[in-house]
Amino acid sequence: MSKTSILVLHGPNLNLLGLREPEIYGSTTLVQINKTLKSNSEKLQVSLFCLQSNCEGELVDAIHNARNQHQGIIINAGAYTHTSVAIRDAITAVQIPTVEVHLSNIYTREEFRHHSYIAPVAIGQISGFGADSYCLGLQALVNYLKQEQS
Ligand code: DQA
Repeated sequence: MSKTSILVLHGPNLNLLGLREPEIYGSTTLVQINKTLKSNSEKLQVSLFCLQSNCEGELVDAIHNARNQHQGIIINAGAYTHTSVAIRDAITAVQIPTVEVHLSNIYTREEFRHHSYIAPVAIGQISGFGADSYCLGLQALVNYLKQEQS
């Protein structure tokens, strides 16, 4: 049996992590987050692929292309979380178990960040633990997939 494969999607402005509002998002860069996730994925014995895009359509395409390639998705859709019906519909269309993550706690911030279009179609959401949100999301997704496969 081939290894379980996880796709990690980072949305707009997350390429600027480390520089961007460090008081909110911390000083860890996206490269460091991806490196940590890769090392955690090896310990969890799954394959992991990371992609960042500032374009909504590219994120939609990546979700479509995940079909028959990845068994789970971790997504931080950035600001698209609060606006994108297209990303939500793509997740619904492919029916791949998806975990939504956020570095900041979106519920303690501006009201427009309190609503997520993705949350209702995700298996769960992790918000507010900085770079650890991704690691917690990966662990939770792998546990979920293992339970599903058994
Ligand atoms: C974010 C929260 C969003 O509201 C914001 O637009 C982002 C980052 C987070 O990880 O905390 O770009 O998704």
